[in-house]
Amino acid sequence: MENKTYHITTFGCQMNEHDSEIIAGFLENMGYQPAELENAGIEVINTCSVRENADKHFFGTLGQLKHRKEDDPDFLVAVCGCMMQQKRIVDEINSKYPWVDIIFGTNNLYRFPHLLNDAVSKHDREREVWDEADGVKEGLPSLRKFKHKAFVNITYGCNNFCTYCIVPYTRGRERSRKPEDIIAECERLARDGVEEVTLLGQNVNSYAGGMDFAGLLREVEKVDGIERIRFMTSNPKDLSDRLIEAIADSDKICNNIHLPFQAGSDDVIRRMNRHYTHASYLDLVGRIRAAVPDITMSTDIIVGFPGETEEDFQRTLDMVEEVRYDSAFTFLYSVRPGTPAADFEDQIPEDVKHDRFDRLVEAVNRISAEKNKLYEGRIERILVDGASKREPSAQSGRTDGFKLVNFKSDCDLTGRFVDVRITKGKTFSLEGELV
Ligand code: 5AD
Ligand code: SF4
Repeated sequence: MENKTYHITTFGCQMNEHDSEIIAGFLENMGYQPAELENAGIEVINTCSVRENADKHFFGTLGQLKHRKEDDPDFLVAVCGCMMQQKRIVDEINSKYPWVDIIFGTNNLYRFPHLLNDAVSKHDREREVWDEADGVKEGLPSLRKFKHKAFVNITYGCNNFCTYCIVPYTRGRERSRKPEDIIAECERLARDGVEEVTLLGQNVNSYAGGMDFAGLLREVEKVDGIERIRFMTSNPKDLSDRLIEAIADSDKICNNIHLPFQAGSDDVIRRMNRHYTHASYLDLVGRIRAAVPDITMSTDIIVGFPGETEEDFQRTLDMVEEVRYDSAFTFLYSVRPGTPAADFEDQIPEDVKHDRFDRLVEAVNRISAEKNKLYEGRIERILVDGASKREPSAQSGRTDGFKLVNFKSDCDLTGRFVDVRITKGKTFSLEGELV
């Protein structure tokens, strides 16, 4: 009998996580049930080409499935996501892992049910990756990980071509969804019990669906039942005063912003093609904080971009000390073949990169811990996500400012708003007790 169960392995960002929810939605519509990888009839690997050593992780994961495939020819392996948009990756799969059953890309995600049907019924190997994104597809199903919160795409692709980044090549040119489609999706989600939406785009600030991003936020705000609105990612070069006003005016738009600065030196920022300066970024942070004093901030930082001197790196450390982020994602620069920076001279030796990285992480973590300490004694409103990962007798959730809070509770409070008194601020989370 056919084994109609599935398992999905997801690498990468929220955008990928959401694509996996859509794939799960397709599979459930087709009568598939979730299962552990060991028992599943189909394994879908949703890949990312941004994270460090993405190729190595992916091919490692894929290689592990070979024996399984040999023992059970009916076991299906599908691979998709950003990496499949790169020809060299698909070529490598075809030559070294020819037993992979289905390959599709980000541009033709919605063709997955069709490809799966063909693979099952014709026992054919399906390979279909589209170079060009053909607009925006509406009406895709989605099986959400959480009942009470959801991701909503507002733009696809990116036009910014930061010189280190592969995304413009793997996800194509920026396309904005229509506001009415986004609002209709939010309304549907709200009817389904969703209280928090996170609007997703590589650069939400360049949303252009007939209104700007601030205008869109004000529309999403009107949706009854949606209590919290988050969004990411904000490219500093496009963040408008209208957006700052919208955050300041709104009770629903969370007081939290993810604002990657990537590097602190004007020379490096310029060679990254990011179109702001250290000073203009700080000025922006100042304006945001003046309008929304309690806003929390996170960022992305790359160390060891080609040609980065110790002096350049000091400017990155300066930025961390000047802004004092609540949290930061830190990345070692690594070459993405096909991007301009891959051909830049003066690639930084690994030991130098690692040394800078360690110093950066020390600063970032020290400041996170200091900022979290300030929460001790405060009462925070938390939207509960469920049992804590580490401790099943505890529940965890997020503050408006996206701080992770763990607290003891005998009952399951998933999806509820509760008030918690913060008892301890740690580096990556807060501890508290229900009030
Ligand atoms: N090397 C290191 N970090 C990168 N990022 C994107 N491309 C690279 C790269 N080639 C980081 C950026 C981006 C985050 C999602 O990933 O900081 O904001
Ligand atoms: Fe990549 Fe820059 Fe686009 Fe972000 S804005 S996805 S870093 S090219």
